[in-house]
Amino acid sequence: MKVFVYPGSFDPVTNGHIDIIQRAAVICDKLIVAVLVNQSKNALFSLEERVELLRKSLQGCANIEVCSFSGLLVNFARDKGASVIIKGLRAVSDYEYELQMALLNKKLDEKIETLFMMANLHYSYLSSSIVKDIALLGGDIDGLVPNAIKSDIIEKINGIAQK
Ligand code: PNS
Repeated sequence: MKVFVYPGSFDPVTNGHIDIIQRAAVICDKLIVAVLVNQSKNALFSLEERVELLRKSLQGCANIEVCSFSGLLVNFARDKGASVIIKGLRAVSDYEYELQMALLNKKLDEKIETLFMMANLHYSYLSSSIVKDIALLGGDIDGLVPNAIKSDIIEKINGIAQK
């Protein structure tokens, strides 16, 4: 069975992520969307919220599982029986960091391949940070995140703005 892992912070998941997830799920038997637990950057959403937003967005997708992980990604992938790490590439600016991670992950476990998928042109400008910025500044996030979680994001932002 071909198992792929799609790792990220997903703070929150965007339509760009969903596009990669759906395309990756077609070329593997099982796709594990892996949400990173420990992070240096401050997340707006808690780990549980980020996992829940992904699950809500991916309802009805049979071969997709949402998990959280801490520690090294290659260890998580190996434990789950995954042989491929899938990554989305947007602009050239993503390349340098992704190259470094792919090469280091290869050094850590040569049996695990990193596979890059080009982000859909429609979402190549999109990031979780930009979605948060727009929502914080009162802009419309329609079309940028799954419809199922739009109100969760706005509620969270409003809750923070009131503090
Ligand atoms: O969505 P992000 O924040 O760009 O995702 C980054 C992520 C989760 C893919 C990366 O931080 C990661 O793989 N972290 C796990 C720790 C690890 O394995 N580090 C070594 C990679 S060379």
